[in-house]
Amino acid sequence: MTRPIYFDHAATTPMHPAALEAYLDAARSGPLNPSSVHACGRAARRILTGARDRIAALLGCHPHELVFTGGGTESDNAALLGAALAQRERGRTGIVTTAVEHAAVLETCRRLQEEGFRVTFLPADEHGLVRVADAEAAIDERTAVVSVMTVNNETGARQPVEEIGAVARSRGALMHTDAVQALGYEDIRLADRPVDLASFSSHKIGGPPGVGLLYIRDGTPFRPLLRGGPQERGRRAGTENVPAVSAFARALELAAAEREERTRETERVRDALLAGFAAELPPGSWAVNGHPEQRAPHILNVSFPGVSAQTMVMNLDLAGVAVSAGAACSAGSLRPSHVLSAMGLPDERVRSAVRFSFGLGNTTEEAAKVAKLVATILARLS
Ligand SMILES: Cc1ncc(COP(=O)(O)O)c(C=O)c1O
Repeated sequence: MTRPIYFDHAATTPMHPAALEAYLDAARSGPLNPSSVHACGRAARRILTGARDRIAALLGCHPHELVFTGGGTESDNAALLGAALAQRERGRTGIVTTAVEHAAVLETCRRLQEEGFRVTFLPADEHGLVRVADAEAAIDERTAVVSVMTVNNETGARQPVEEIGAVARSRGALMHTDAVQALGYEDIRLADRPVDLASFSSHKIGGPPGVGLLYIRDGTPFRPLLRGGPQERGRRAGTENVPAVSAFARALELAAAEREERTRETERVRDALLAGFAAELPPGSWAVNGHPEQRAPHILNVSFPGVSAQTMVMNLDLAGVAVSAGAACSAGSLRPSHVLSAMGLPDERVRSAVRFSFGLGNTTEEAAKVAKLVATILARLS
């Protein structure tokens, strides 16, 4: 059997062998509760502290500004709830976010709506980008938190987070960004960015799932989501997942060291797929969704009007190719993508949108093969 082609790296990435090794090394090293005072506990704390220091150096922040969490979803929940509740004590009860956020942010905003916060969902243009002018009009002295993702997980569009962050902070609001899909593709110097809170996830960059990071800038008002023990300086209770944290740090080190090379290679694979579509598919049978330039290199969203995304995904799966219909989180349901709908794309374009996402190990040969397979599937179905 030929090796399957994995073009679904935005859903999750295969664990990097070096990260797996770091995981196993830590897990095998003994009982790992960093809060214990005995020798085993001290050894666990050394692993945890070492990982935090290394990640902080790579992200350009202080180690104590980083909180380990159970993943990107928890980081988003904790950031929004934690900052919003703290800001309410200062009389700020407005939230400004976008219509194209990940469900982890959108659902948390709906929860805040139930708690009495006034939430504004900024629209996106036809390329999936939020306009800074819309943010400027929406953010005022009552705004508690502004949350705008760095890179969209469905289209790869790169939002103007820096410009919006500057507006938010000039009006006394806290700025959060979900940077889950940006990690590994950008030089993230947190200290230099106009953000107070940022969410990251390990399993999108070759680390294990179930571990994430929340950056909380020094001095940011914050109420913890999880209460219990004093771990993570009282900002996230619960015994830290030391092996997973150690593996996350290793994966991030490799991603940072190889960032430029990985970015170039990813662009080559994406461009080869686009060139393959241009060569193999009849004109008018496909359309790219997202911004042509302001985008991350690893996500390509393409509609094949006339063929439902589910049908294309299933047919590609039968041919040994893994891709997603819209976001992975909504893949089990037939609900059309809220991101593409918010971009104002016609229904048919939304229903037929497939997300191809690339990463370590993908090749231009794979891209050429996938383009040919898509052409065969389209010819068979039309
Ligand atoms: C933009 C974005 N935010 C948040 C998440 C959630 O991260 P996790 O799977 O670690 O909970 C994802 C993953 O799908 C994502 O793409």
